[in-house]
Amino acid sequence: MTATERSLVLVKPDGFSRGLTGEVLRRIETKGYALVALAITTPDRERLARHYAEHEGKPFYEPLVEFMSSGPVTAVVIEGHRCIEGFRALAGATDPTAALPGTIRGDLGRDWGLKVQQNIVHGSDSPESSAREIGIWFPDL
Ligand code: RTP
Ligand code: MG
Repeated sequence: MTATERSLVLVKPDGFSRGLTGEVLRRIETKGYALVALAITTPDRERLARHYAEHEGKPFYEPLVEFMSSGPVTAVVIEGHRCIEGFRALAGATDPTAALPGTIRGDLGRDWGLKVQQNIVHGSDSPESSAREIGIWFPDL
């Protein structure tokens, strides 16, 4: 078997507060990926600044950090061959209005007309992002 891949998934504060953590985990598990680690935490600005460093300076950056620190998130490490690409496909497009039905964002998300898109989940977008993000959310892994 080829080397196992891991991805960092977040159920964002909108998903957590709407009680969708279980539904997101169900979709990950029924897809066939393994759950490796899971934690519920309200992230502080410092952690979010590290996590979203690539977006610093963009118009949605401040609203994004504000939104992401507004309540608990469920952080999850998942594992499986090509799970980074696979979870991004499960999540769907960033804009929940455009995200296809069948995806997490397409089925469960919508545009609320706010300064930043609330779209239920985050998923790492590359092996490099995954390694970096797992280090931020699960430094002991
Ligand atoms: P994520 O990192 O959360 O998995 O989402 P993504 O790759 O699909 O999107 P990204 O470009 O990395 O943006 C990070 C998050 O910022 C919010 N966003 N809002 N124009 C907007 O209102 C806007 N653009 C980005 C979303 O919450 C997005 O997931
Ligand atoms: Mg991203």
